[in-house]
Amino acid sequence: MSKRNVSMTVNGKSVSAEVEPRTLLIHYLREHLNLTGSHIGCDTSHCGACTVDLDGKSVKACTVFAVQAEGAEVLTIEGMAAGDGALHPLQEAFREMHGLQCGYCTPGMIIRAHRLLQETPNPSEAEIRIGISGNLCRCTGYQNIVKAIQYAAAKINGVEYKEAAE
Ligand code: FES
Ligand code: FES
Repeated sequence: MSKRNVSMTVNGKSVSAEVEPRTLLIHYLREHLNLTGSHIGCDTSHCGACTVDLDGKSVKACTVFAVQAEGAEVLTIEGMAAGDGALHPLQEAFREMHGLQCGYCTPGMIIRAHRLLQETPNPSEAEIRIGISGNLCRCTGYQNIVKAIQYAAAKINGVEYKEAAE
């Protein structure tokens, strides 16, 4: 099959690669750019492990062709930490609040939570649960993921995190 040059900005860097038109964005990222933080967890567009930010929207990168992202701005988990390696508040929050076990869902979950907090800086628990409903976690039971997102929201908003009474 003939290949096409596909260019975009990923984590602030201009990138391009020759790919077949059928190449999915998740394969472009993982196989052509070596950005393996975004995972593949299903064949059915269900799990959200592949979630990336595409022009300010959360998308499942297994549902988008790379050619559709031509010229786009993409953020993956590799772009979350600061240049000096300092963790993003969401990364720190997942660590502090034990928001992961095996970690397979975590990159997609953090990228999704990032967009959620951009859109809703101070979300309620219900808004968080709805906001991450496209991302499956098979380990944690979600409780600590919700707490991690609340913790990150507090940190980003400069307020003290208070754990809700059980
Ligand atoms: S790999 Fe499961 S939704 Fe994309
Ligand atoms: S931590 Fe294992 S799938 Fe979420």
